[in-house]
Amino acid sequence: MDLLLKGGVLHDPENGWEGPAEVLIRGNKIEAVSLSLGPVDVPFWDLQGKIILPGLVDMHVHLREPGNEGKETIATGCAAAVAGGVTSIACMPNTDPPADNKEIICYIKERAKRADLAKVYPIGAITRGIKGKEIAPMWEMAQEGAKGFSDDGNPVSDSGVMLRAMQYALNLGLPVISHCEDLSLAAGGVVHAGNHGYRLGLPVISPASEAVMVARDLLLQKEIKGKLHLAHLSARESVELLRWAKGAGISVSAEATPHHLLLTEEAVGNFKTEAKMNPPLRTSADREALQRALKEGFIGVIATDHAPHRLQEKEDDFLSAPFGVIGLETAFPLLWTKMVEEGLLTVSELVDRFSSAPARLLDIPAGSLKPGAPADIVVVDPQAEQVVSGERFFSRSRNTPFEGWRLKGYPVMTMVDGDIKMWQGKVKGFSEDFPEIKSILQTRR
Ligand code: DOR
Ligand code: ZN
Repeated sequence: MDLLLKGGVLHDPENGWEGPAEVLIRGNKIEAVSLSLGPVDVPFWDLQGKIILPGLVDMHVHLREPGNEGKETIATGCAAAVAGGVTSIACMPNTDPPADNKEIICYIKERAKRADLAKVYPIGAITRGIKGKEIAPMWEMAQEGAKGFSDDGNPVSDSGVMLRAMQYALNLGLPVISHCEDLSLAAGGVVHAGNHGYRLGLPVISPASEAVMVARDLLLQKEIKGKLHLAHLSARESVELLRWAKGAGISVSAEATPHHLLLTEEAVGNFKTEAKMNPPLRTSADREALQRALKEGFIGVIATDHAPHRLQEKEDDFLSAPFGVIGLETAFPLLWTKMVEEGLLTVSELVDRFSSAPARLLDIPAGSLKPGAPADIVVVDPQAEQVVSGERFFSRSRNTPFEGWRLKGYPVMTMVDGDIKMWQGKVKGFSEDFPEIKSILQTRR
């Protein structure tokens, strides 16, 4: 659509813009960004008191289609994305069957196109069946549009297999996203190896189970020099290894999730399965190390690891319940309220970590509102306050550890390719009373 956003404050670090701006959208693209554009013959929206950001990019999302549509479909996951201000997502291949071949990659893209909400970039499996043994047909998945490779949910335990996969991915110019876990150390564990877990008498997962694999991957990367991305880091030892890698000239990127950045093992409380995920929540020292690494850029990406599970499964006992929490609809207000407002991260740093940096990594057209870029935009109301309530989620699942949290900084409009997909909490195609936007906008300047 043609639209002028005026009166708002734009944060676009990639384009070097931080301050009041008018943003002119024509069709599906950004046409101009300026302090004042003068008279323009298009409808406008007055954004007094609101902020304009490039659409968020979440590079770690589990859509459960094909195979587990009771937890999430591509359409409901995309609805959750735009509700949370996320305009591009990369989805992990641990579906059923897994995305380890070009047909499934093609299927995911088709379904995403039909949903017509967020942009979906599939990640292909590293190994056939995500079993860690034989390398999957990476070349043909890349041809079909896979934007990276991962066995996420499982590690690639065999170092030789991982080395070869990294070599292939390098030849394809795509990143390998590593789920760092040494199963001989972690298997059977369900919570962090700390005071809280010991008190509950649960089997534990030591930080070394993550850090050992981080170290291995860094050493492989030292030889391969491809694109290595470390998913959902949780332990301060992993951050120390990243520091070492930087000194040793090893190039690597890494992500942290909102839950690891904001919670500790204490959130497990009395066997609360909403706080069961892999890797587990750790100590406040780990959390602070992650926060610092995010600020300094050793961890350059925020990703949600949105992992929907059914209520019935999560109501199982702590040992049997599945690992994972959802995050698409709470990530931005959480980071706004608990990191930006607390002075732990600037708005520009947040936009970089949760939009520009993952866009660069995946090499997708997102992460900045410079003229000519796709009009993927999120408008946030920094004052909009709301209590997190799973009942209101567009996601098909409810497994959040943040239920009841009072947060600020909710997205109020999400636009993808110039089309408004979310407006004041309503999602196109999902909310019956999604408004006819044109009639709301003003037409005279
Ligand atoms: O908690 C998690 N859930 N961690 C993973 O690595 C996989 C994910 C899932 O697929 O549910
Ligand atoms: Zn994951």
